Amino acid sequence: MELETREKELLGKIDHRRIPGHVAMIMDGNGRWAQERGLPRSAGHRQGVETVRETVRFCNYLGIKALTLFAFSTENWRRPAREVNYLMSLPGQYLQTELPELVKNNVRVQLLGERNRLPAQVLRAIDEGLSATAGNSGMTLSFALNYGARREITRAVEALIGDLQLKGGKVSVSEDLLASYLYTAGLPDPDLLIRTGGEYRISNFLLWQLAYSELWFTPVYWPDFSRLHLLGAIADFQQRERRYGRISQK
Ligand code: FPP
Repeated sequence: MELETREKELLGKIDHRRIPGHVAMIMDGNGRWAQERGLPRSAGHRQGVETVRETVRFCNYLGIKALTLFAFSTENWRRPAREVNYLMSLPGQYLQTELPELVKNNVRVQLLGERNRLPAQVLRAIDEGLSATAGNSGMTLSFALNYGARREITRAVEALIGDLQLKGGKVSVSEDLLASYLYTAGLPDPDLLIRTGGEYRISNFLLWQLAYSELWFTPVYWPDFSRLHLLGAIADFQQRERRYGRISQK
């Protein structure tokens, strides 16, 4: 990968043994990016896909093991139909062009979210991505689509109760058991959550999984989020002391 001088400099300052294993991202600010340029909101989403392309490539290059992108929430259905339709066309557009490279780079694609309500064309594109990359063992690239964390947890509890009823008798429920019913079963919890667009909230994303994640917020709109910003986030992450309830080791 061709890197610019400033990127190389920042990359040189990063501890490569402590790259976050799982990075999750809330890609906010597409609409404002477009509006500030007098463009329709869809132009912001289109540019957002370019940022997705670059971000996926760079995360893979950095050796990040899992990247999870919040592409469409259960609440995003409340947007005008035109915008919803446009957003729904993006996973297909992205995978159509990127799938060969994802396959080549050993990336495994995964869907987090409820399949029902997703249009057939989205499911077709995603399923093609899933099956073409199922055997890959490199970075796991998860698209959270029609995803809401409260819904995810509610579904998990529902499925768990169903399974427990089948077993009968008294059974204890551990955190690991419940986590195995979440969409993210098998994925480690995110080490780092990045949110672009200047808002300081979690917006019903990975509520269970973010329990001990480091949070990093930037006012930069998603279409402007660059490799330099990502390196900055990782550098900040490496300055944090993750105590998990313990006292400081410093
Ligand atoms: C939030 O910005 C962004 C979204 C709801 C959609 C995010 C989608 C992408 C970045 C593209 C996804 C790409 C693939 C390949 C699936 P906003 O529209 O709420 O921005 P605003 O807060 O400025 O209005």
